[in-house]
Amino acid sequence: MRRMSTILPRLMLALVFMLLISPKRDGQDEQWCIADEQTPDSELQQATDWACGAGGANCTNIQVSQPCYYPNTVKDHASYAFNSYFQKYRSKGGSCYFKGAAMITELDPSYNSCRYDYTP
Ligand SMILES: *[C@@H]1O[C@H](CO)[C@@H](O)[C@H](O)[C@H]1NC(C)=O
Repeated sequence: MRRMSTILPRLMLALVFMLLISPKRDGQDEQWCIADEQTPDSELQQATDWACGAGGANCTNIQVSQPCYYPNTVKDHASYAFNSYFQKYRSKGGSCYFKGAAMITELDPSYNSCRYDYTP
């Protein structure tokens, strides 16, 4: 059993090491879904219309006089709508795709009183 006695401590050391270098779970997978800068406005608008309609996103905050209305750009409104959809349906298989019009970010896009949803 000489073999065993040298392998076991090494195995345990390796295990401890793996635990130490493994990424922290806390705050690691916070993700928001926003419009991809590359996407033309016409496509963003279509995707936004879908998200806010059949998609089931909550687009109240991008309506006139709501906190995320300004900046009143197709891109900003698309980002809000995409993220609302993504946060709402991610756990049920909804993705941040929108025919390639959307992208994931790990930076909270919220600004001033415009808060982007985040559902853990
Ligand atoms: C939609 O968002 C608004 C603003 O955050 C909120 O007041 C409202 O309750 C939401 N509606 C639904 C159906 O979740």
